[in-house]
Amino acid sequence: MGNRFFETEILHGKNKSNRKIVSKVTPIYQTSAFVFKDLDELEGFYQGNGQYLYSRTGNPNTDELGEAVARLEGAPAGVAASSGLSAILAGVLAVVKNGDHIVAADDVYGGSFHMLKEELSQFGIETSFVSFNNLDDVEKEIKENTKLLYTESITNPLLRVENLEGVVQLARKHQLNTIVDNTFATPYHCRPYPMGIDLVVHSATKYIGGHSDVTAGVLTGRADLIDRARNKIVNLGANVSPFEAWLTCRGLKTLALRMKAQSTNAKKLAEALQQNRFVEKVYYPFQKEEEGYGAMVTIELAKAVDMNQFFRSLSWIKIAPTLAGVETTVSHPLTTSHRALPPEANEALGITKEVVRISVGIEHAEDIISQFEQAIEKSL
Ligand SMILES: Cc1ncc(COP(=O)(O)O)c(C=O)c1O
Repeated sequence: MGNRFFETEILHGKNKSNRKIVSKVTPIYQTSAFVFKDLDELEGFYQGNGQYLYSRTGNPNTDELGEAVARLEGAPAGVAASSGLSAILAGVLAVVKNGDHIVAADDVYGGSFHMLKEELSQFGIETSFVSFNNLDDVEKEIKENTKLLYTESITNPLLRVENLEGVVQLARKHQLNTIVDNTFATPYHCRPYPMGIDLVVHSATKYIGGHSDVTAGVLTGRADLIDRARNKIVNLGANVSPFEAWLTCRGLKTLALRMKAQSTNAKKLAEALQQNRFVEKVYYPFQKEEEGYGAMVTIELAKAVDMNQFFRSLSWIKIAPTLAGVETTVSHPLTTSHRALPPEANEALGITKEVVRISVGIEHAEDIISQFEQAIEKSL
């Protein structure tokens, strides 16, 4: 202890550190700030010497997450945020300001819809929602002050695959920025940035993390816009914690394995449910890849099915208001993800009481299929 008092020793005693340690994975920098030995070193930070200052403004784990997803998206830059919604907010605020107008797809995730419609409108940012099925209809909504087209590569929950080439063309014609939420497709299936989309956003809570144990978001895309979005994240305090960023980076390592297994299972399940006479509709992008395009399957059950009994009969497949974990789960969009939409909007989109969204996991496909078949049988 030397000549220090106990209280001081607790804080400043030196442990035997082994400077030769080179860990295989990035350690967790679970610290709110970084220290400097003198004012020259501190000044070095402001001159961009690559050091860190304060974890809200930057941390090695959160930076690693932004960079890793950007690399997979084929984008020059990326930044992590505390959730998918905060990544969306940062991306939107990087391109619009008070007085600007956004044209968004009418079938975006309910939380994004709510943020654009109810929250951003209070700050003078107006959004028109329109079906992106026909881009002529989208073009009709473009006004003098329109700055942004906002959509999803595969929509939630009806799994419409966006015509991204068309969106890029339209945006270029009118000199608009574009943001695409790539949460459902992931860069395993779709990479909007190389196609010309300016910003690509993820709820990393979903497939990027992949294990239902983090809430995080990532925004990737044009370096100038990412710089602006990073400032928004710093100034609004929307940073992700080092531990959650580290967990998300760990999950990301198996993205290809998970997506391949889950998408293959999803396609098999979608095909099997198409054969079931108590399934009125199966929403799945069959037209895309051979092995399956995405791991989400949405079904509309027949009116003869007792919905509550159906969910109860699913046994090890649980209701979860999220998606993309390794376990198969189900959700009821009308009462969860799309609760924020007005009833008439849900009805127009086809999100009825009978619609069930299935997040297909990595279990054996035959077990997943038989769970759904027996649950339907028991609920008639
Ligand atoms: C497509 C999509 N985008 C964004 C979000 C929001 O993500 P988070 O819950 O991480 O804020 C969700 C959440 O379900 C989503 O499904």
